[in-house]
Amino acid sequence: MQHLLTLENLDHATITRLLDRAERFRVEGAPRDLLAGCTVLTLFFEHSTRTRTSFVLASKRLGADTLNFDLTHSSTSKGESLLDTLHTLEAMHLDALVVRHNENGMPAYLAGHANSDVAVINAGDGTHAHPTQGLLDALTIRQRRPDFENLRIAICGDIRHSRVARSDVQAFHALGSHDIRLCAPATMLPESLDEFPGSNTTEDFDAALADADVVIMLRIQKERMAAAQFPEAADYHAHYGLDTRRLALAAKNCQVLHPGPINRGIEIAPEVADGPQSRILDQVANGVATRMAVLAELLAARS
Ligand code: CP
Repeated sequence: MQHLLTLENLDHATITRLLDRAERFRVEGAPRDLLAGCTVLTLFFEHSTRTRTSFVLASKRLGADTLNFDLTHSSTSKGESLLDTLHTLEAMHLDALVVRHNENGMPAYLAGHANSDVAVINAGDGTHAHPTQGLLDALTIRQRRPDFENLRIAICGDIRHSRVARSDVQAFHALGSHDIRLCAPATMLPESLDEFPGSNTTEDFDAALADADVVIMLRIQKERMAAAQFPEAADYHAHYGLDTRRLALAAKNCQVLHPGPINRGIEIAPEVADGPQSRILDQVANGVATRMAVLAELLAARS
């Protein structure tokens, strides 16, 4: 692998290798000097709490030099193009560029124009992909249920606009899942299942939850939605919000995930987000280990 742009073409063996490495880092820690001499730069055109922070922590814990490129105080505000910005940063020596952008395909575009010794990692592009989130969600589930082929997985919420849903489904399917239920009101369901292998769709939340082993709740993404598509919050919660009564429809030890940030009281009730079946903070912790594994995979040979 030179870049990590999507999980679409990663096979079972590659994903398993990354998850095994992440689990080792989580349990045993990582060699502090594994990426000594490497430089990792984060370039985020959209806001982030979890992804950016965990990439910074991951690269520091592996001994890399790490820099957050501050767009608001950069010369992009004077009209410098993205490619000129890229080549300027490369001239200062760069091993990895971690990119988040609101446009689908922008990390791939940068990867296509970057020097051949720069690894580009997609930290989320538009509605297209969020590959490290897909990996960390798979790691979180696998810690309790490694038998993906037997899992009934419900993914509920704004699927149409969700890069997380796409990357999650691609990871779970590569690991053997074939009962993945995508649940949302019609306006939030995907128009095609091409990017969602092993999935089916339903507007019936109770049916999606029935005996589910894993429920992944997604944030309503008002920023990617036309105003007319955004339902009244209370109405949405009544039909598609996960509360304790609804969670009882799922399997007894059903794991509840949410990539964050959470809209409490809209897609998930606080008592579920903070309840005993919630894996939400485990996901955050696994994010650091997963990003360490990805950085190690892409960069370890060159340090
Ligand atoms: N899950 C996720 O991508 O969170 P952030 O937007 O906070 O990075």
